Amino acid sequence: MSVLAALLLVVVLLALLVVAASCRRFGTWRRKGIPHPRPLPLFGNCIDAVLLRTSFYEALDKIYRQFPGQPYIGFYGGSSPMLLVCGSEAVKDITVKDFHVFTDHKLSPDSRYDTLFSKFLFCLLGDQWKSIRARQTPAFSSGRLKAMFPTVKATADRLCEVIDKRLDKDGAVGINGLCSRYGIDVIAAVAFGIEARALDSDEPPPFMKAVSAAFRFGPLEALITLALLFSSPVYHVLRAPIIKEWRAVVLRGLLREATELREREPPRKDVFDTLLSLKKDGVPQVVFEAQVMSMQVAGSETSSTAVLAILWELALNQDCQDRLREELREAVAKQGAVTYELLHDAEYLDMVFKEAVRLWPVMPWLDRVASEDYVLPGTNAVIEKGTVIIIPIFSFHRDPERFDDPDTFKPERWAPENVAKIDKMSYLPFGNGPRACIGFRFANMSVKSAVASVVLKYRIGMAEGTPKSHAELELSPLSFIISPHKELPLRFERL
Ligand SMILES: *[C@@H]1O[C@H](CO)[C@@H](O)[C@H](O)[C@H]1NC(C)=O
Repeated sequence: MSVLAALLLVVVLLALLVVAASCRRFGTWRRKGIPHPRPLPLFGNCIDAVLLRTSFYEALDKIYRQFPGQPYIGFYGGSSPMLLVCGSEAVKDITVKDFHVFTDHKLSPDSRYDTLFSKFLFCLLGDQWKSIRARQTPAFSSGRLKAMFPTVKATADRLCEVIDKRLDKDGAVGINGLCSRYGIDVIAAVAFGIEARALDSDEPPPFMKAVSAAFRFGPLEALITLALLFSSPVYHVLRAPIIKEWRAVVLRGLLREATELREREPPRKDVFDTLLSLKKDGVPQVVFEAQVMSMQVAGSETSSTAVLAILWELALNQDCQDRLREELREAVAKQGAVTYELLHDAEYLDMVFKEAVRLWPVMPWLDRVASEDYVLPGTNAVIEKGTVIIIPIFSFHRDPERFDDPDTFKPERWAPENVAKIDKMSYLPFGNGPRACIGFRFANMSVKSAVASVVLKYRIGMAEGTPKSHAELELSPLSFIISPHKELPLRFERL
């Protein structure tokens, strides 16, 4: 036998071995009696996601739709058994009652490769998460939100001025970039302690570059995320960060300046003050810095995507837009101005917000990892410690069994007389339980503030190139969050 043939044989044998190893755990869900699709060697049930042909949430949605009404659906992420938790009781148990078992996200990178992201509140584990989360929670009390409102409102007004300035001769402007800039400025002001002035600048300033699109992934980041979630050895081969280090370097410099400035000023009762108190309490500098960056990165792109989704839906649904404007005008006539209370009480505005984040949940799925063996509620099946479970939020929100006519924008489904029909665990735009989005009350205020300012000043309509349907909206296929990656033009007519 020639050397070449021997070599070939070795390669083929090794390849067979890898393939066989990848199938080793494929009997897991059959043995436990959990419904599951048939897996493929190496890829499990996620071949389209691994080959970057679809986003992960779309891959999950395909699996979800094969087993309507099942409380649990097994699948394989690469070679690892993973579980979709779909039944309402099960979702509630995992996020609330048995939270002590499911405290941690699997999407928590190795701190050796991901110095910044691994210390984000989202990624912190166990007791460290608990203590840091508890110290940040007071930043979002009603009193604090009210104290921050004037800053938010001023930024929303600034957004309108900038729309005005940038309208082209047809009255159109790309709104994706402007919403991002709004999100960055709002969070920078209250959580980072600086005036980012992203709305004011034509060229993106360094701060904006460091923050924006941090979760808009390229192929490498998409693969790292999947490898991490699938507990694949590939993760340790890639050894690369999900959030690139240069972002942290830029932000760290600016943060040092902001900290020095603020330490000389009286307290402002904003999020940054609360974060500074972490530092005073002796939390390590890197953890403090990561919390500020985490608020900024996680808070800005998510809220700006919600503003974008609402403005676009209002352009498509003129009757909703008219009704919203009428509600806001009446309230302003009574109260004299757009106030915190006005936004808080505006019923239709809340319905529009709820419906937009139902269709476009920025975080389309949630992951948790079992910290011990766990009996799945309502079954005899036990999942082993280390099993990753996924709550497919996007799929819930678009499931016709959970929402009538689920792909249609219908704020009326959230009217007080209809809302009782909606199962609480079928609607999770901000997650659920102790690990729900810490900023959801702030987002509620800052998203509504932007929408109210714009709707009171402009009639929003379609422009050339505005996507006319959900199918035409191009979402970033590689990110784990839902975000449109192209400019989205809308027409604005001054009222
Ligand atoms: C926003 O806040 C209001 C007032 O607290 C609340 O009633 C509403 O449910 C919140 N909306 C969402 C989508 O969380």
